Amino acid sequence: MGIKEDLHGRNFITLKDFTPEEIQYFITLAKDLKDKKKQGITGNSLYKKNIALIFEKPSTRTRSSFTVGCLDEGGHPEYLGRDDIQLGHKETVEDTARVLGRMFDGIEFRGFKHETVEKLAKYSGVPVWNGLTDDFHPTQILADLLTMYEHFGYLKGLNFVYVGDGRNNMANSLMVGMGKMGVNITILAPKSLWPKADLVELARVYANEAGSTVTISDDLDSVVGADVIYTDVWASMGEEDKAAERIAILKPYQVNEAMMKRTGKDSTVFLHCLPAVRGNEVTNEVIEGPASLVFDEAENRMHTIKAVMVATLGNY
Ligand code: CP
Ligand code: NVA
Repeated sequence: MGIKEDLHGRNFITLKDFTPEEIQYFITLAKDLKDKKKQGITGNSLYKKNIALIFEKPSTRTRSSFTVGCLDEGGHPEYLGRDDIQLGHKETVEDTARVLGRMFDGIEFRGFKHETVEKLAKYSGVPVWNGLTDDFHPTQILADLLTMYEHFGYLKGLNFVYVGDGRNNMANSLMVGMGKMGVNITILAPKSLWPKADLVELARVYANEAGSTVTISDDLDSVVGADVIYTDVWASMGEEDKAAERIAILKPYQVNEAMMKRTGKDSTVFLHCLPAVRGNEVTNEVIEGPASLVFDEAENRMHTIKAVMVATLGNY
């Protein structure tokens, strides 16, 4: 069976479940869909498909990407917000999953517990896509990889440094995704915010296979030689009460002009999944500066999410 056939009907829960070739397939498909859309060509691969978009947490990019991506391909997206359905409060996740699975052809979930997206996948019987949980944000990584690929023309061997909260959904997902694709990744964070050891070990297994490295450090000199500097908010959705303590420990890890210079390369680019808190994890100067690719990256959310829906559910 080829990659195209093998991806059909699959869930998209974390990049752990995909081979480097499959991840590359999503990126290539996204690039193709993007090029076509720029020429005014959209498809019909989701014709007659109804897609549920469950959001326990707010979203600009992910919600819009699933909505526009689905409509571009002739499908029908239905937004189900936190106060619209009973998921997990008045109805078990298992029951909601079985009901939605009988009405919809695919389900996106953004929310808190990673276990919820796993249960939706187990009980709904239709493809389930992870639009962010407390632990992982895999669709974001596809957009990051596409943006890097478009900019550099290759992925393997690039030096990628993620700076900031090293144990959040972005750090976790980047370790897995960059490891699988042979990008050297460093998580630069204070020791109290280092990622879990078992996930680091797993990312190292992927990186070894792909010929790259995973480094965890609290030394700011780790940015030397970076091709990409990436950061994310210091307090993720659901942990707003930690904002003050995070500012106190993460201040030295702010991405600013001095840090960009410290890479020793003029060619270093800046990425951020957004939304950003300017003045905290990144200065206005850097996010608005010539190294910043954040809006290409945000646009690429749509093309890559469309590719995930097309590959797992579409007739194409
Ligand atoms: N990057 C990202 O997931 O953005 P939203 O929270 O706006 O969806
Ligand atoms: N770590 C952030 C990512 C937002 C896209 C959060 O979970 O809030």
